[in-house]
Amino acid sequence: MARPDWKINGGTYSLTFAQWRAMSPRQRQLHDLHRLATHANLVVQETPMSAAVSRVMMSRIRSNAIKFRPSTRAGLMVNGGGYQGKTETVCETAAVFEEQWLELHHQLNPDALPGTRDLHAPVAYVQTPVTAKPKSTCEAILDFYGEQHKNMTLPQLVRTVKTALHEHGTKVLILDDITRLKMHREADQDVLDLIRSLMSMSVTLVLVGVGIPASGLLREGRHDPRTGQWVFPPAGTRGRAAGDEAATQTERRFDLVDLDPFRYDTPTDIDAWISHLAGIENQLRLLRAEPGMLTAGDTPEYLFRRAGGIVGLLERLIEDGCTAALDSGEERLTSNLLDGVTINLGNPPRRDPTAGELPTVPGHPRPTTKTRRRPRSTVFDDPGTSSTA
Ligand SMILES: Nc1ncnc2c1ncn2[C@@H]1O[C@H](COP(=O)(O)OP(=O)(O)OP(=O)(O)O)[C@@H](O)[C@H]1O
Ligand SMILES: [Mg+2]
Repeated sequence: MARPDWKINGGTYSLTFAQWRAMSPRQRQLHDLHRLATHANLVVQETPMSAAVSRVMMSRIRSNAIKFRPSTRAGLMVNGGGYQGKTETVCETAAVFEEQWLELHHQLNPDALPGTRDLHAPVAYVQTPVTAKPKSTCEAILDFYGEQHKNMTLPQLVRTVKTALHEHGTKVLILDDITRLKMHREADQDVLDLIRSLMSMSVTLVLVGVGIPASGLLREGRHDPRTGQWVFPPAGTRGRAAGDEAATQTERRFDLVDLDPFRYDTPTDIDAWISHLAGIENQLRLLRAEPGMLTAGDTPEYLFRRAGGIVGLLERLIEDGCTAALDSGEERLTSNLLDGVTINLGNPPRRDPTAGELPTVPGHPRPTTKTRRRPRSTVFDDPGTSSTA
């Protein structure tokens, strides 16, 4: 079956409506499925904000990884609102590091000892359990490696985690959604102690969360204006972490970096937003899409207002907008069409709304004539008895 001769001109899609209509119903269905899949998997684009975080993170994990002396490594905290791309940015950066590290060591674990595990995992990614406890956090880390941890006591779990980090040659341990820890809860403070004690394992700890400064995670730390780092007292000084004397003496240091949303204040901000929109526009497969569909006129500002500059909300609006454009046959994105699309985040699994991982959706659709709020009826207002009466 010959594929219709639709082509991509310079990134923009140029199948005409006539060509689409000329397809057999089956071809059209297949083609639309491809289009839906394209719109549901928009690529992650580098933004000025994600580039800034990647730079700090990459320099931190690289300089820590090439240190020989077994010592406490400074960590990194990545802070930002929900759906702002923290997980994508951190994982993307860690993936680049892992690739380089494996290449540098010919895919082998440079510290491998005969008879030890041969799974080389330079980067470990773990999502903090919703009800985090020291045990469940250790188990979540061991699950990443596929390690057994049945019926282990906490000290045994901590030892196994430390052995796993070492024997798998892990250089970066990412703990995502760390702000699920509620610092008013005793257990959560123990988790934080445990986590900090892991810093003595020559790994770079990357903690990712929403609203870290307000979460209490920094409460025990002090800000060092000289280095800009947050400094925490040695682990276990509040309660001693299992069997790790020397390491407990060292302070733990973290850099705190923010992954901000797009802004719309300066021409540079606006340019960055518009080039992000252009990157999305090139990926869309709509039959009536014209160049400038997302980037011209007042559309950039409209989209900024709808998504609040948050990449994840924009992605959701565009994805649902494209589905509406296909279903309605409009086959292009207009603010009128997008007014009819509500950004609904639903209740995605793996996201904890109580930890701020579901942002409030800003920017309601433009008030249209039909929905413009009618002034309040005064019919039943009591005018009160007129003074003359
Ligand atoms: N730079 C980017 N370009 C395009 N899309 C992006 C970018 N960063 C993230 N996204 C998309 O936005 C959505 C949210 O991203 P992500 O899960 O990384 O956010 P988050 O900050 O970790 O959110 P949460 O706090 O809820 O965990 C994802 O669907 C992702 O594909
Ligand atoms: Mg996330």
